[in-house]
Amino acid sequence: MVTGPAPPAPVPKVSARGLGVRFHGVPALSGVDLDVAPREILGIIGPAGSGKTSFLRAINRMDEFIPGMEIEGSLSLDGRDVRRFRNLYALRRRVGVVFPLPVGLPLSVYDNVALSPRLSGVRGKDELDGIVEKCLRRAALWDEVRDRLDTLGSLLSGGQQQRLTIARALSQSPDLLLLDEFSIAVDPVTTMRIEDVLRELREEVTIILVTNLVQQARRVADRTAFFLTGEMVEVGPTEALFEGGARDPRTTDYIEGRFG
Ligand SMILES: Nc1ncnc2c1ncn2[C@@H]1O[C@H](COP(=O)(O)OP(=O)(O)O)[C@@H](O)[C@H]1O
Ligand SMILES: [Mg+2]
Repeated sequence: MVTGPAPPAPVPKVSARGLGVRFHGVPALSGVDLDVAPREILGIIGPAGSGKTSFLRAINRMDEFIPGMEIEGSLSLDGRDVRRFRNLYALRRRVGVVFPLPVGLPLSVYDNVALSPRLSGVRGKDELDGIVEKCLRRAALWDEVRDRLDTLGSLLSGGQQQRLTIARALSQSPDLLLLDEFSIAVDPVTTMRIEDVLRELREEVTIILVTNLVQQARRVADRTAFFLTGEMVEVGPTEALFEGGARDPRTTDYIEGRFG
């Protein structure tokens, strides 16, 4: 076996230190220290109101849009403080977001996916067609919509619309994808298909998956963090947490369904 100096640790995709979020002065989340490695899938579980969405909002700098929201501590993307992005558009292009309910734009299926590439200057029809097909394929939706790309996105089924949201998030080639309880309005079969998509995307994208389904974290996430009443109780390899290796009894209680 050849030994040598350990390779340098990669710069985390996301790094939080003492991260907190307040709304009108009231803490929603505090003291989060967490690194997310490139191409990792990090699951975040925890009961309603524990600060999961606030964490995603901090990464996406939603404090610019939500009155009374303040971020404290430090939070970086690829080693760069998210508050240093003067141009939030540049930050958002790198961060794709999928919300609990599909947020359909009043556009055709095609245009939902082509919008971001157009805004960033892609003009050629062949190139746009290629991007639209690729993103719809990656979101496991292409086969169902290839013959009706001109249909309004809002006329698709709920599960299809959520996959359309994912295709749209992918169209800007993000290197970080944030999903917030994506399966709330989606049937179990679609949920499984999207979980397969996430496992495939892992080759290219870092994913933070906030989920209300504890077992979804188990199926998909490399590591899982447990949030409770505005704190991160612990984070660890998913298998270890689910196999009784949690350090904090509250984590085990939650995973085993004793509360939440
Ligand atoms: N826009 C807001 N204004 C005021 N309080 C908020 C706002 N968003 C979230 N909160 C509060 O922050 C806390 C954490 O919420 P959230 O991050 O949405 O939790 P989770 O996603 O885990 O359910 C909750 O007490 C919630 O009421
Ligand atoms: Mg939430």
